Amino acid sequence: MTALRILCPEEHTTKDKYIAEAAAILRNGGLVAFPTETVYGLGARFDSPAAIARLFAAKGRPPDNPLIAHISHPKQLTELVSHMTPLEERLMLAFWPGPLTLVLPKTQAVPALATAGLSTIGVRMPADDIALALISVTGVPIVAPSANLSGLPSPTTARHVAQDLGDRIDALLDGGETHLGLESTVVQVRDDVIYILRPGSITREMLAEETGAAVQGAWGENAQEAGAPLAPGMKYKHYAPRAAVIVYEGEAVKHIAADAEREASPPAVIAFADTLAAVPEHVARFTLGDRGQADTAAKRLYAYLREIDDLGLTRVLVEAVPPRGLGEAVMNRLHKAATRIKGR
Ligand code: TXA
Ligand code: MG
Repeated sequence: MTALRILCPEEHTTKDKYIAEAAAILRNGGLVAFPTETVYGLGARFDSPAAIARLFAAKGRPPDNPLIAHISHPKQLTELVSHMTPLEERLMLAFWPGPLTLVLPKTQAVPALATAGLSTIGVRMPADDIALALISVTGVPIVAPSANLSGLPSPTTARHVAQDLGDRIDALLDGGETHLGLESTVVQVRDDVIYILRPGSITREMLAEETGAAVQGAWGENAQEAGAPLAPGMKYKHYAPRAAVIVYEGEAVKHIAADAEREASPPAVIAFADTLAAVPEHVARFTLGDRGQADTAAKRLYAYLREIDDLGLTRVLVEAVPPRGLGEAVMNRLHKAATRIKGR
C-alpha cells in the first residue's frame, strides 16, 4: 500500500501533490480512501466494474448493498442520472454540497455492480475540500461506501481506515477527524413524498421546512409493509463493535451508574456528563456532552466504540439521546449496534 498522508491540509503545494497522486490511482482503477464531512469513504471510479469488484472484496461487503456515487459538481449528474423532478432539484440546490444522498434513476453508463442491480443510484456532493478536489481532479464520479470492514463502525479518522483496510487499498488521504461523524441522510422521492431511507445530519425537520413536502421515515420495521422504498444496507446489523452494546432508554437511565459498578469486569459507559458524574472512576467513561444535545454523540459515537474495542472491553453501557432532529439518526445507529435495549 502506498500511504498518502496529507500532513497539513493548509499547505497547498503538498495537498495538491497528494491529491494528484490519489486521483491518478483512482483513474487507473485503484482504490483510494478519503475523508468526507460525514465519515471516510473508500473510492473507486464509478465506471470500472473491475475496481468496484475489488472494492466490495476489500470491505467484505454483501453484493446486494449498492454504493453511493460522489460528485464534485452537479454537471456530473448527466453521467449518472437519467432524469430529476423539480422536488429532487430543489433538494439538491438546498443541501449540496452536504450530507444528503439522493436516490435517483440511473443511466446506462452506471454498471449494475455499483447499484447491486437496482435501476437507481444514490448520489451526493460532499462538503469537504479534500473530497471535492479529489473527485474534480480524477475527472469522473467516484463510488464510495464508508471505508470500514463491512459490519464495523464507520471510520471517522484515517487511523480507523488503516486499521480496517490498510493492506487492501492503494492509498489513504488523511484529512484528520471528520466533521460530522455520522453517514449522510439517504432519501428517495416518490409521488412528491420524501422518504428517508437512512436518517442522518439532514433531519426530517430540515427536509420538510425547505420543501414543504411530506417527509416519511422509511427505515423502520413497517417500511416494507407501507410500500416505502428501502436502502438495502439498512437490513444489515451495522456499526457494531466487538463489545456488547447495552442501550439505556427512559427510566432505565438512572440505573447506569449502579449497573456499571456492579459488573464483575468493569464495562465502558457512554453517557451525558451528568450521568457520567455518578459512574465510578475505575470505569472507562466517554462523554456525550450536555444533556439533550446529540451533536457529540453523532460526532464521537463510532470513535468511542472503536476505542472501547481497542481497550479490550467486552461491554459498553450507552445512554440514549432524545430521538429528535440529529438524535433520530444517532438512535437509528445505536439500535442497529445494540445487543440489548433496556427501558422500553
Ligand atoms: O456519508 C455517507 O453516505 C458515506 C460517505 C463516504 O459518503 N457513505 C456511506 O456509504 O455511508 P455506505 O455504502 O456505507 O452506505 C450507503 C447506504 C446503504 O445503506 C445503501 O443500501 C444505501 O445507502 N443506498 C445506496 N444506493 C442506494 C439505492 N440506489 N437505493 C437505496 N439505497 C441505496
Ligand atoms: Mg457503511
